[in-house]
Amino acid sequence: MNKKKILITGGAGFIGSHLVKYFVNKYPDYKIINLDNLTYAGNLDNLKDIISKPNYEFIKGDITLSAFINTLFERYKFDGVIHLAAESHVDRSISNPDEFIETNIIGTLNLLNASRECWNDDFSDKLFYQISTDEVYGSLGIDGLFTEETAYDPRSPYSASKASADHLVRAYWHTYKLPIVISNCSNNYGPNQFPEKLIPLAINNIKNNKNIPIYGKGENIRDWLYVKDHVSAIDLVFHKGKKGETYNIGGNNELTNIELIYKLCKVMDNRLGRADGESAKLITFVKDRAGHDLRYAIDSSKIKRELGWSPSLQFEKGIELTVDWYLQNEKWIKNIINRKYEKYYDKQYNIR
Ligand code: NAD
Ligand code: DAU
Repeated sequence: MNKKKILITGGAGFIGSHLVKYFVNKYPDYKIINLDNLTYAGNLDNLKDIISKPNYEFIKGDITLSAFINTLFERYKFDGVIHLAAESHVDRSISNPDEFIETNIIGTLNLLNASRECWNDDFSDKLFYQISTDEVYGSLGIDGLFTEETAYDPRSPYSASKASADHLVRAYWHTYKLPIVISNCSNNYGPNQFPEKLIPLAINNIKNNKNIPIYGKGENIRDWLYVKDHVSAIDLVFHKGKKGETYNIGGNNELTNIELIYKLCKVMDNRLGRADGESAKLITFVKDRAGHDLRYAIDSSKIKRELGWSPSLQFEKGIELTVDWYLQNEKWIKNIINRKYEKYYDKQYNIR
């Protein structure tokens, strides 16, 4: 029997590596091909548990190179694509937007073209799944939720590039009937997240008694989802989602950044044996992010109603698991904190 071949792009990154591990273990009858260019955010350490499984293969490659992508599809004849590869950090998109346009838009276009060419109008059992973000919907005021019908209103180069990619994916569905599905998820957190993002950055700084940089007054609100819950939602959407549809995925865990940091500091004090309130002394308010979206919040009633998904963890439990993982995996983070990262950090924050 020929195994179903699933291409996962960006599988060495944060969410991608959790997804690859989950699919490789859960679906021995699938062949999982992980395509990742190993940018600063890609890390093969994330995948060491499954590296020698017979249904797994890693390919290093760049989705912005169309000839390479076409050849790859001709060779493997993938049955499905789950597309996560992206430049994913908003701050980097503000200082250097060009890479976001290349990877997030042109890269997605190349994958769409190659899928269309490879499937040659025989779309039965084929699927192109675009992993997107709630940031495409823009910024909410204090009330309201993003639904699947909310009009796109991206406001950073990152979210504009993801929105463009989503539009292309939908255009290929309407124009060529390419079978697609899109999900838009809120902020993920958990093990293996690169320490440029708020939670791992704060954990690492607290541990090393460094200031915790909080943009503006820390009043911006995000809806936090434990990464493994995102992965279980992706599994459901991939297997049971309706073609051409969009599914919003959220954690029902809205917090202001400052609330989140106080919760995190409490767990860190406990785990590091510090007096209550000790870690919170490291909180430092710094210059706000340009165009900082005030609030994201997701209405995930559609995926709950139609596919039966809901998050398994609330933030209080998820943050404990996350802190414990980072404290037990010091080597993982040490391997990342290199000169290049320190240079990025100094330029971004100008504090120590
Ligand atoms: P990440 O930055 O941790 O990982 C991105 C991966 O893509 C890395 O492994 C990197 O090497 C790879 N990559 C980058 N450019 C590439 C290229 N040109 N060719 C091939 N591979 C390339 O990102 P993440 O946080 O895991 O996010 C994964 C996806 O999920 C992204 O599409 C992101 O927009 C989306 N998303 C993320 C979140 C979140 O909270 N992190 C929430 C919703 C949606
Ligand atoms: O909402 C989904 C998105 O969540 C994903 O699409 C993005 O890929 C992912 O990076 C994330 O974007 P955010 O910009 O919300 O995440 P970040 O961790 O960068 O920031 C979370 C909040 O914390 C945000 O309001 C900015 C603030 N922040 C962030 C950093 C890095 C700080 O106050 N200080 C910081 O040092």
